[in-house]
Amino acid sequence: MRLFSGEIYKNRRDQLKKQITGGQILIFGNNEAPMNYKANTYRFRQDSNFLYYFGINMPGLVGLIDPGSDRDLIFGHELTLDDIIWEGPVEPLSSLAEKVGISLTLPLDKLPETLRKAGVHYLPPYRGDRQIYIRETLGIQIPPSVALIRAVVAQRSVKAPEELAEMAQAVNITRDMHLAAMRATRPGRKEYEVVAEILKTLKSHNAELSYPVIFSVNGQTLHNHYHGNEMQAGRLLLNDSGAENEMGYAGDITRTFPVSGRFTTRQKEIYEIVLKMETASIAALRPGVAYRQVHLDANRILLEGLSALGLVSGDLDTLVQEGVGGLFMPHGLGHSIGLDVHDMEDLGEQYVGYREGLERSTQLGLKSLRLAKELETGNVLTVEPGCYFIPELIQKYRSEGIFTQYVNYTRLEDYLDFGGIRIEDNVAITADSFKILGDPIPKTVAEVEKIMTEY
Ligand code: GLY
Ligand code: MN
Ligand code: MN
Repeated sequence: MRLFSGEIYKNRRDQLKKQITGGQILIFGNNEAPMNYKANTYRFRQDSNFLYYFGINMPGLVGLIDPGSDRDLIFGHELTLDDIIWEGPVEPLSSLAEKVGISLTLPLDKLPETLRKAGVHYLPPYRGDRQIYIRETLGIQIPPSVALIRAVVAQRSVKAPEELAEMAQAVNITRDMHLAAMRATRPGRKEYEVVAEILKTLKSHNAELSYPVIFSVNGQTLHNHYHGNEMQAGRLLLNDSGAENEMGYAGDITRTFPVSGRFTTRQKEIYEIVLKMETASIAALRPGVAYRQVHLDANRILLEGLSALGLVSGDLDTLVQEGVGGLFMPHGLGHSIGLDVHDMEDLGEQYVGYREGLERSTQLGLKSLRLAKELETGNVLTVEPGCYFIPELIQKYRSEGIFTQYVNYTRLEDYLDFGGIRIEDNVAITADSFKILGDPIPKTVAEVEKIMTEY
């Protein structure tokens, strides 16, 4: 198990203690989750808050941070002989705890008597077993702590140098997955044959997926997890896949490329618009910039490009304000990323991506923007503009007469079989600018066509 130094975890906990006065803090690790019966489990994924403050990637643990004391605790169970017979002699909990700066571990059944329930702080549980444990075993009746949510979000939103190094590594594994996919794609193959290459590359780095692979000729479906289509020349392929490295940090990259290796003129026209949205958005990133504005500016570039192609018309400011871009990009420009691919989404996007005075819009596109607030040094986020032709959405808007004064629905008919394009990179905010994480991944038309035709 790879861990940061004990000092790092201790400092993180000490920093948290300064923000929370009164009441103990409970950080729950995850339990094994049964797939069809108890002993046959899904891949174990540790809770990211537990990983952040306690590091240990093992099921069945609870961390207790006591702001009134300098001693933090981990509750869990030491291996029995039966565990060793079935699962092997893994490192004892007490020894792992030592490595993350914890000198005392106790059996989990000692937690109820150690806990001072009054004023306890805990984070929103997102798994049913945890909700039951909190309410029934621990007898905690108060809701999750907003003060703790705010403190954790503030801390985890700013990535330290050692975290940025892990994230760059996750992106570089992801890069290899994308290069393998580009090289393996050719007309006549099935999508799942390429997904197999993506997974093989991932596993060769001892990594896991940070989310289920999105790999499809039907890129207009934003999160398309069906991989059974034959890839035909003339179609575009959208690959949104990412690695989670050994320390739990996520990569989240999208590239779109032609199955045949060469873009058609029509594909190139739309691709260049999305590429410009992506590169211009990244170039605008620095501390203090509101990501909502970057999203709106990306929409402006989209509408300007579609206007040049005769698909929309009208004053650009009006088009942006009316949300016409949402018809072509019904998602947000990006989100925070870190230990979770949508970082800290379990804690609530209103805390992670918004702030008081900045409310979520209800407009198609803008309502799915997960990160809207002003950026800070140390934030890491995705920039992932797209342009999609979703027949069902276009037909619904057309039949309901929505945006008829702006959208050339007759010309759009030619695009109903187009699919979708998304380009996504992971970017860190530096003291005065930005840094794209990892080594470059083919992105321009020339770069993509070159790698696609190299084999
Ligand atoms: N990979 C999911 C997303 O981009 O949000
Ligand atoms: Mn993303
Ligand atoms: Mn993605």
